[in-house]
Amino acid sequence: MLFTYYGHSTFSLEWDSTRLLFDPFISDNPLAGKIDVESIDCNYMLISHGHADHINDAVSIAKRTGAKVVSNFEIVAWMEKQGVSNGHPMNTGGHWIFDFGKVKCVNAIHSSSFPDGSYAGNPMGFLVESAAGNFYYAGDTALTVDMKLIGEFKKIDFALLPIGGNFTMDVDNAIVASDYIKCDTIIGLHYDTFDLIRIDHAEAEDKFEKAGKKLILPEIGQTIEM
Ligand code: NI
Ligand code: MN
Repeated sequence: MLFTYYGHSTFSLEWDSTRLLFDPFISDNPLAGKIDVESIDCNYMLISHGHADHINDAVSIAKRTGAKVVSNFEIVAWMEKQGVSNGHPMNTGGHWIFDFGKVKCVNAIHSSSFPDGSYAGNPMGFLVESAAGNFYYAGDTALTVDMKLIGEFKKIDFALLPIGGNFTMDVDNAIVASDYIKCDTIIGLHYDTFDLIRIDHAEAEDKFEKAGKKLILPEIGQTIEM
């Protein structure tokens, strides 16, 4: 499975003929200036919630690529109103078997509104099971004991957790989350983009190492084999 980081909480995972893109926020991210949004390809787009820093490039990429948009009902409906007809609406607790594998929508403790302030449904995380491996993307969330359920569902090969604090979990809480989900390989997301979520990389990596875990902090634009 190839992981590519586009900054903030935007990443893709690619294997065989599948390319999943998550929470596209690139053109308004000052740290992602070297990423050409037009060059990003995907056949599925998964969106965790409606905040601008997770959705701002969703309509343009979905229209250009024709990717199927997997998100909550309200976000899929919002995309449809803007001409994106290839959506698959879901909600927390539900799962669906797609051609690439199974997606289960799991709880995220956060809020969810569109850039204009209107209601954007429940924020969610995604548990993805596939022949190439299983992973958990938490979305924007607090640490929650619900994450223990995720550790019971399935063996997770790696997880993508927010670590920037202020709006979400911080590094210390992400370490507890990785215990709850029984997964010691974590890709950190949702940090450094804004002043309020700036972190010390070396300190974060050190804390994970001391807990016997691995924290991956990829460079924007970097692709890693997972
Ligand atoms: Ni958010
Ligand atoms: Mn966010």
